[in-house]
Amino acid sequence: MEAHLSSAIEIVGASQSQLVHETPELKQIAANTIKNGLPPIAIGPSQGALLTILCQMINAKNILEIGTLGGYSTYYFAKAVPGAQVTSLEINPKHRDVALENLQVAGVADQTNVILGPAMEIMPKLLEEGEVFDFVFVDANWEEQAEYVDLAVKMTRKGGIVFVDNAVRALTQRGGEGGKRLIEKVKADERVTSVLMPTLLTYKEHLETAVDGFLMAIVK
Ligand code: DHB
Ligand code: MG
Repeated sequence: MEAHLSSAIEIVGASQSQLVHETPELKQIAANTIKNGLPPIAIGPSQGALLTILCQMINAKNILEIGTLGGYSTYYFAKAVPGAQVTSLEINPKHRDVALENLQVAGVADQTNVILGPAMEIMPKLLEEGEVFDFVFVDANWEEQAEYVDLAVKMTRKGGIVFVDNAVRALTQRGGEGGKRLIEKVKADERVTSVLMPTLLTYKEHLETAVDGFLMAIVK
């Protein structure tokens, strides 16, 4: 007898939460982020585990994050590989302040640099300064995913990874324009090998938000 989708989500979610361990630091970051009224749109612990595994596979010591929110994913990147340094860009001053507090309390202030401002202004500056990253995590304005990826690939070493969160919902929601432009851009991009991976976010209550996924590209 096959499980219906809603019970499948519950079954898989229960198993997922048995596998992943959310540290007290992560629980504190998540709680303080919500307490400060930031939206509940951070990654979950299973995605944190995936990002950790990817970073460990490629020994990602220099990470760029587009979209800090409260610093929940920032913390995973800081902890994945010993001595990792994370540059995280955030456009919203309130989010930046909450993230700075969270990362300080969690003990990774010295490994993280949260820069306030629009990624489309800061990324070209980092590129000009010759910054090279092992891993770029794009988790910001869905309408600009294509532009972020184009710049990110220029700043990523050979064998490095550009990971775009919510690339599936950027196709299925809000008119789908952001996601479509991302696919159009990446399919013609000979600098990378890429994949679009649907995922099931078992902690989300509604199907339209539970079905999401990411685009991942490795730089040739
Ligand atoms: C939204 C943004 C995200 O980065 C995410 O992971 C989920 C939802 C949003 O803007 O709704
Ligand atoms: Mg996201």
